[in-house]
Amino acid sequence: SIVIFDFGSQYSLLIARRIRELNVYCELVPHNTPWEKIAHLNPKGFILSGGPASVYAPGAPMAPAYIYESKMPVLGVCYGMQLITQQLGGIVAEGQAREYGHAVLHLSEFDDPFFKDLPDASAAWMSHGDRVEKLPPDFKSLAYTENSPYAVMGNGKNIYGLQFHPEVAHTPYGKTLLQNFVFNICGCQPSWTPGHFISESIAKIKEQVGGGKVIAALSGGVDSSIVASLIHRAIGDQLTCIFVNNGLLRREEADRTLKVFRQNLGMNIVYVEATDRFLKRLAGVTDPELKRKAIGAEFIAVFEEEALKLGQVDFLAQGTLYPDVIESTSSVGTASAKIKSHHNVGGLPENMALKLLEPVRYLFKDEVRQVGIELGLPEEMVWRQPFPGPGLAIRAIGEVNREKLEMLRAADWIVMHEIKKAGLYRQVWQSFAIITDVRSVGVMGDFRTYGHMVAIRAVTSDDAMTADWARLPYDLLARISNRIVNEVPGVNRVVYDITSKPPGTIEWE
Ligand code: XMP
Repeated sequence: SIVIFDFGSQYSLLIARRIRELNVYCELVPHNTPWEKIAHLNPKGFILSGGPASVYAPGAPMAPAYIYESKMPVLGVCYGMQLITQQLGGIVAEGQAREYGHAVLHLSEFDDPFFKDLPDASAAWMSHGDRVEKLPPDFKSLAYTENSPYAVMGNGKNIYGLQFHPEVAHTPYGKTLLQNFVFNICGCQPSWTPGHFISESIAKIKEQVGGGKVIAALSGGVDSSIVASLIHRAIGDQLTCIFVNNGLLRREEADRTLKVFRQNLGMNIVYVEATDRFLKRLAGVTDPELKRKAIGAEFIAVFEEEALKLGQVDFLAQGTLYPDVIESTSSVGTASAKIKSHHNVGGLPENMALKLLEPVRYLFKDEVRQVGIELGLPEEMVWRQPFPGPGLAIRAIGEVNREKLEMLRAADWIVMHEIKKAGLYRQVWQSFAIITDVRSVGVMGDFRTYGHMVAIRAVTSDDAMTADWARLPYDLLARISNRIVNEVPGVNRVVYDITSKPPGTIEWE
């Protein structure tokens, strides 16, 4: 594997994703991680990420000495390159000018294995204030740009530094460089595949669970579905899934999920019809955060009741993904303001003393999807767009009631089907309807109407952190609008949301 040390760049995670895309296992760890914590990964090479600090500033994060002492391959990216310089005896100083954006990279050492399949000149994306003034002993410049004489440096053995970011899309040959480092310099094999992951994790789950019993909350979403089928593969009927119908699901959602998991896969599913309970609890609640809290608390109550009926249970399965793990262990992560309290269905009931089983906690979302395909889950399920835990409640603005939910379900169904029919379902990150309490006057036939306004939201995004409104074709929007107004009683106006995130969020509440 490759171990990436995180010095706080916003792109650190992206390096990890790029390496994984090469079918090589890697982990991103805090920059000060001791050797004992990574020894089990059997590292074949190290990458030092970028970061916001200056290596010469007091208290600047340093790379652990064992990295250099190990004599293993090292690649420093931006701040990482400056660190190598400083720690191995070169000089880093403030650049005369900060350098951001495009630069042309010219190779000067064409035969270096690090440059295999790289053209003599290519684009590189820069983002740095500091620069290397003097290389450490034994190092030389391998490539340059107009403003950086040392755009790439190396010691002729296995330590390399890049002043630019190979992990971003704006560096088109960045992937080639990472590939060369990982395969030619570190000698890794591309053996990290979904099939490999599945057999490995089945063995691990068997070992961890032994003869114990596992429960999982099944929501029908991508992560919980894949986690449940993976565990089921490993331990069969020792797993029981609890599916809570909270009345806030999309049309036919419950039936579809039961069909796949109970009927097709023969899994133990406890189905709980809890619509009344949830709607009662939501009566009169209009504040978005209070809605989330009410739904989260009710979910845990229902889940706990059902779990207690099962008798002795030892493990709770959760679909925690790698980005969540990193976020909670990052040594340099910045405290960010709470915008929304994202409650994930499957919150840990506190007084049940269950051990956690998190079989995909080292995977990225796209890897989870590949595992789902390999497990034979329906494509439709594996490629579903994200759906929030609080469900339609945060898409029914104002008070949630049956009437509005019914209209929302009907409108949502039309949006989803039209987007799928247009072949755009996978291209947009999320696409859905929102129902508001805004009412407006319309005319249908010879009659005046006074109905609800529905909004359509469709966004493109990579990770939901930022998003842009999708430029859906006008004809498609026209079809959606026509159908909603004609087919959904009580709705007489449709608008399209053209707000990006930020400043908007994806959901309206
Ligand atoms: P926002 O609206 O914050 O959404 O831009 C970002 C992503 O998170 C989803 N989302 C939620 N997911 N519980 C969830 O499990 C929540 O309370 C919640 N709120 C938003 C949203 O659908 C989008 O994918």
